[in-house]
Amino acid sequence: MLKIEIIYNYSRNFAYYLLDLIVFVRDFLYLYGQNLLPIFYYWRIQMKVAVLGAAGGIGQALSLLLKTQLPAGSELSLYDVAPVVPGVAVDLSHIPTDVKVAGFGADSLGDALTGADIVLIPAGMPRKPGMDRADLFAVNAGIIKTLAEGIVANCPKALVGIITNPVNGTVPIVAEVFKKAGTYDASRVFGITTLDVIRSEAFIAELKGLNVADVKIPVIGGHSGTTILPLLSQVEGATFTDEEVATLTPRIQNAGTEVVNAKAGGGSATLSMGAAAARFCMSLVKGLQGEDVVDYAYVAVENGDAPYFAHPVRLGKNGVEEILSYGELSAFEEKAKNDMLATLKSDIQEGVDFMA
Ligand SMILES: NC(=O)c1ccc[n+]([C@@H]2O[C@H](COP(=O)([O-])OP(=O)(O)OC[C@H]3O[C@@H](n4cnc5c(N)ncnc54)[C@H](O)[C@@H]3O)[C@@H](O)[C@H]2O)c1
Repeated sequence: MLKIEIIYNYSRNFAYYLLDLIVFVRDFLYLYGQNLLPIFYYWRIQMKVAVLGAAGGIGQALSLLLKTQLPAGSELSLYDVAPVVPGVAVDLSHIPTDVKVAGFGADSLGDALTGADIVLIPAGMPRKPGMDRADLFAVNAGIIKTLAEGIVANCPKALVGIITNPVNGTVPIVAEVFKKAGTYDASRVFGITTLDVIRSEAFIAELKGLNVADVKIPVIGGHSGTTILPLLSQVEGATFTDEEVATLTPRIQNAGTEVVNAKAGGGSATLSMGAAAARFCMSLVKGLQGEDVVDYAYVAVENGDAPYFAHPVRLGKNGVEEILSYGELSAFEEKAKNDMLATLKSDIQEGVDFMA
């Protein structure tokens, strides 16, 4: 009798403890579950990122950084028409991180793209000294069109980041290809302008003697020459004289030419662009994982300054969740914006017309 009573008491206490535990877990998830979501997404999502033009200067730098930065379990798919691309993949595969790398040659665009969550495009010719934007557009427009058609056929839901210049015109080409195929979603197409942001951060830190990690600056507009508009008036913790604004703004706008000339015919920015694209890709990844991320990109804007315009954007599981306001401009910035809009709109139209 005593034994039965003991067993009964133990069982009852155990049931109470179990109930307490269930209530505790329930309350904990209710209170903190929202904060735990990014951890669950981290475990759940295995990213597939495709880099088109992966054997080039930017492509290789970008792929190296993604091999070391993508979440564990991700896949990196490298595509290029250059026969060296399988070798680039083998080379990267010897780095001991939990990111699988595969290389795909000219005939395997479909295999490279199937199942991709993110597609980054640095394929195409870089600017050489003496080349103007029209020369670059003539070569790269056709390359971008072909690759966008591959995306339509193989991973129409992927987030697409375009690096190939001239970005002001290549982004509209991709959008037009998607529109023709009936797969266009404006929130999934990005012109990567992060290089303008990181250059601004580096130059401001250098000029003002600041810790570069603390420098934050919005860069809006387009992605060439005067269409690039760094908002120096919005940099926290630093003020600029009129003279500094008048010299730093064009330095940021023409920083690409600084690299082209310094490389003396050997190409344009590759390492800094690789770093910029990797940084933007990681923002896209965090958005897909459910984190709240704000970054800058050249995106389609309804009723904005131009049909495409670099803005701060809130990123999430569907790409752009919200296009944010770039805030108040100084008189200098307002004038610079108004002066460049005709150029930007004509660059955009060139891309749209290419697909007409
Ligand atoms: N957005 C930016 O901020 C920015 C900055 C610098 C350069 N760029 C642009 O990025 C592009 C690449 O520059 P890079 O220095 O890496 O050039 P690169 O010549 O070193 O590499 C380009 C790669 O693209 C490949 N390619 C060419 N046609 C292709 C196709 N149809 N499909 C797949 N791959 C193809 C080439 O084989 C090559 O490996 C250029 O258009 C350049 O102007 C953009």
